[in-house]
Amino acid sequence: MDRIRLIGGNELRGEIPISGAKNAALPLMIASLLTAEPLVLTNVPRLADVKQLERILENHGVDIAVHGRRRGEAEGVGQRMTFTAGEIVDTTAPYELVSKMRASFWVIGPLLARCHEARVSLPGGCAIGTRPVDLFLHGLKALGAEIDIDDGYVVARAPKGGLVGATVRFPKVSVGATHTILMAATLARGTTIIENAAQEPEISNVAECLVAMGARISGIGTQTLTIEGVEKLHGATVEVIPDRIETGTFAMAAAMTGGDVLLRGARPEHLQAALDVLEKAGVELTTEAHGLRVRRNGNGIQPVDVDTDPFPGFPTDLQAQFMALMTMSTGTSRIRETIFENRYMHVAELARFGADIAVDGQVATVRGKPQLKGAQVMATDLRASVSLVIAGLAAKGETVVNRIYHLDRGFERLEEKLSRCGAEIERVAG
Ligand code: UD1
Repeated sequence: MDRIRLIGGNELRGEIPISGAKNAALPLMIASLLTAEPLVLTNVPRLADVKQLERILENHGVDIAVHGRRRGEAEGVGQRMTFTAGEIVDTTAPYELVSKMRASFWVIGPLLARCHEARVSLPGGCAIGTRPVDLFLHGLKALGAEIDIDDGYVVARAPKGGLVGATVRFPKVSVGATHTILMAATLARGTTIIENAAQEPEISNVAECLVAMGARISGIGTQTLTIEGVEKLHGATVEVIPDRIETGTFAMAAAMTGGDVLLRGARPEHLQAALDVLEKAGVELTTEAHGLRVRRNGNGIQPVDVDTDPFPGFPTDLQAQFMALMTMSTGTSRIRETIFENRYMHVAELARFGADIAVDGQVATVRGKPQLKGAQVMATDLRASVSLVIAGLAAKGETVVNRIYHLDRGFERLEEKLSRCGAEIERVAG
């Protein structure tokens, strides 16, 4: 299994290009199931999760083409890919494929809308809580679907003539359930209103894509989405938005090591809550024409208390990285994880660097220390893994991060992007 070896202590200086957002690319790819015509996506990141979803879509009969770099396009820009679901050949998403990635469960929405039936294995994904599917089922049932759970599979059938528009009020905000019901409603008969919808920028990226495909959606970017069903959707070309979690991660890395980094292509408005927190911590942030500049002057990092929340709040996907930053603050900070009940697996690993963190239920209390020390650590989930890398960048001496396959699920060319800015970091195979 590959490992990452790094020597901490170097400041980060230079430019880091921000890749397309994994959490937008995945549902956009899934949206291709809604039409027989080609959906072209640009700026798709090269990630293990994208590859995994390709396998799932191919199993349903989607034809996938990856296009070469266009003339004049810089090296490292995202992929341009075409997804054509001319005919859905199989409405089952099997356990072997779905268990590897939770987001693949979302195919249930488009399959049900277009083929009026779907059989999808209950999902897997990062082990960061129980992550049930009750909200998905609540929404699909509201649109008229009949649902059975059979042998680990959700078996869903639409009424004769297809799904029927309805008001779906989610008792809790869910990104995945919002994507799924939004996609399903585009082809339902009549009007669907989704109340308490997730407002993440990735949801808006998908909604705009659906509109480009002929869907009728209003309220994009708000808590209430109104969808008037249409008979058919058509092809479109859509760009994946830049990854706000990658942006926040590199901003925190630069804050930890010091230096001056331009995050090229970053969209600050997609992570304002996190940037506000970083500014309070004493990080200098400047929005420039080509992205976001992050600097840390010689002053120490101030402790800041944070609660994770659905967008526009502080993202749970930056909680581990922020905790890494707080381990070297000049005081005590409290972090409250409100989205997932088991998302503190990185705490034990951060302690190996000498960090002082106490967890009590949802709340982690982090007492800052002037200097972390390099260590052997183990990646546990996607975002936790990268928190160990950024802690290692700031720690004194050598750090080895084991089990980095989690990182490859969600971070494109991480070592390369960091080493170009002066980090001493390498991947060790085997
Ligand atoms: C998405 C993101 C993930 C991020 C999360 C929260 C993708 C591919 N993944 O995951 O990176 O951490 O949003 O911002 O976009 N829940 C239920 N019942 C359900 C569905 C969810 O109780 O039917 C709960 C979950 O257990 C969790 C909370 O709702 O506690 C939020 O989960 P959700 O927003 O659905 O996360 P994902 O869509 O899985």
